[in-house]
Amino acid sequence: MCGIVGFIGKRQAAPILLDGLSKLEYRGYDSAGLAVRDGEELAQVVKAKGRLSNLIEKTDGGKALKGTCGIGHTRWATHGEPSQTNAHPHVSGNCTRSGSGTVESEVVGVHNGIIENYTELKEKLLKHGYTFYSQTDTEVVIKLVDYYYKKYNLGPIDAIAKTMVRVRGSYALELMFRDYPGEIWVARKDSPMIIGIADGETYVASDVPAILKYTRNVYYIGNLEFARLVPGEAHFYDLNGDEIEKQTTEIKWDAEAAEKGGFEHFMMKEIHEQPKAVQDTLNSVIKDGAIDLSSVEITEDEIKNFEQIYIVACGSAWHVGMAAQYVLEDIVDIPVRVELASEFRYRKMPLNQKALVIVVSQSGETADTLAALRLAKEKGIITMAIVNVVGSSIAREADKVFYTLAGPEISVATTKAYSAQLAAMYCLAVQFAKVRGKITEEQYSYYISELLTLPEKMQKALEDKERIQWFAAKYANSHDVFFVGRGIDYAVGLEGSLKLKEISYIHSEAYAAGELKHGTISLIEQGTLVIGVLTQNELYEKTISNMLECKSRGAYLMGLTTYGKYEIEDQVNFTVYVPKMDEHFIGSLAVIPLQLLGYYVSVAKGLDVDKPRNLAKSVTVE
Ligand code: M6R
Repeated sequence: MCGIVGFIGKRQAAPILLDGLSKLEYRGYDSAGLAVRDGEELAQVVKAKGRLSNLIEKTDGGKALKGTCGIGHTRWATHGEPSQTNAHPHVSGNCTRSGSGTVESEVVGVHNGIIENYTELKEKLLKHGYTFYSQTDTEVVIKLVDYYYKKYNLGPIDAIAKTMVRVRGSYALELMFRDYPGEIWVARKDSPMIIGIADGETYVASDVPAILKYTRNVYYIGNLEFARLVPGEAHFYDLNGDEIEKQTTEIKWDAEAAEKGGFEHFMMKEIHEQPKAVQDTLNSVIKDGAIDLSSVEITEDEIKNFEQIYIVACGSAWHVGMAAQYVLEDIVDIPVRVELASEFRYRKMPLNQKALVIVVSQSGETADTLAALRLAKEKGIITMAIVNVVGSSIAREADKVFYTLAGPEISVATTKAYSAQLAAMYCLAVQFAKVRGKITEEQYSYYISELLTLPEKMQKALEDKERIQWFAAKYANSHDVFFVGRGIDYAVGLEGSLKLKEISYIHSEAYAAGELKHGTISLIEQGTLVIGVLTQNELYEKTISNMLECKSRGAYLMGLTTYGKYEIEDQVNFTVYVPKMDEHFIGSLAVIPLQLLGYYVSVAKGLDVDKPRNLAKSVTVE
């Protein structure tokens, strides 16, 4: 949810920390703060409410803070409103009401995650004389470290280990101890954190883009592990305080991929990167006209034995599952259930032991999806992750991993990761169908050749931008928008609706077209925009007739269909076409105009496209 950074080396820390935070602002942007130390001097803490630019201004681009060791944070509020006082870093001792200034405290720290038992811990600490200035759970955990540090007087290893045993919840925690200048201590459970090393300097970040400019050699710190960081070195420990050996991993993403590259917003850049993201993902498994899942480490015997597939995910990744279920059921002829991870983890449903659980996640850190994955593993069911971030928790814990090659996705609204996930699903469907004897060799070759046309057709679908921009400006002031469709078209509508609402703040809903008349149609008024997705030949007439029911009640209709279906022009008010292709895979094309629509409406309303209010890119809390 929040973003954390850390640096310790030879150069001034503050500018490097601010630069890192600017790459992580997508994770949270309601306040930000830094703590920097100059040698043995006490830490200087500066915090600012609002966007990172406020902190940059307040610190004169970092020049106001001297020191080569520091930690930083950009916040997405969970406990306590967005304010300077609630912003991180927090300190163990007494501080000013705003929390900024020179810190005499024993411990200063930043945190990403949620401490579930913070109320109980706070009560305990209050009894021991601690004073709390913020409403955050973070201040509680910092003070708990201080409490153990002073009580046992055995140093940071002991204090951190004791704290980790005592707290429940998730955390990526960075700490500086007054008595240990030139050191940063980090601890992790269920929240992302990487540690980069280069040229005698050490970096900490919640995500790769923050440090990519400086290094590609990173350590992944495991769950319930902690580490002591000094310039150019990281020493890892388990909960017993025993040292653990670790190797660095090289990150393959290139730094440019995490920049805007001439586009006004990351979202537009990422929309345009979709053909490549899909091509790269397809190419990772399609070789010489056949699909090779050896990199996923799934065997033909396993594929033959599955009786059921569960697809579990959140948000857009769940929409990928919704679209994929139609493809899997149709061509693999296997029962598929698509579950919201937040529901799945608490449902007491009987699970088929011979099932495959596929979790889908861009970040690989979504708390609910991770919990669902763990639940499936606990129940002894084979799990597969379709995931974008290499080395993420989900990637590390799933039995099998199908990496999407979308590269870093920065905009909160996902586009290219969604498309790459869908491409991965298609490959699984086609290969499963072949291995299970559900399709002929000819059909297999046909599906693969169709899949290989996807990138080019996606490129074509991107060409209709100007008309969509014009239409978006016309409907930017809508109060309600409805998306309708059947089957795959319904799944595409779900994603189109989410894209619109999350970045334009227009209320929108997606409906299975046949369901409208069971209640929702009463919301249709004069001028209400109804967008119909009509790519499935067999369902076209049915959906059109549901749309016309809305038109006769005053709705304005937009139809999204394939080239050739020109009769639609007589029935709807505005039409958008995408290239024709096999109907199983066409959702990948139909979603593009809807992504563009959401984007242009947001731009027309003058909103912050890449950082919509109340949202964060990576949802590492329940
Ligand atoms: O990182 P994940 O794919 O697990 O994230 C899941 C959702 O939070 C994500 O898709 C979210 O719905 C996006 N903001 C949608 O654009």
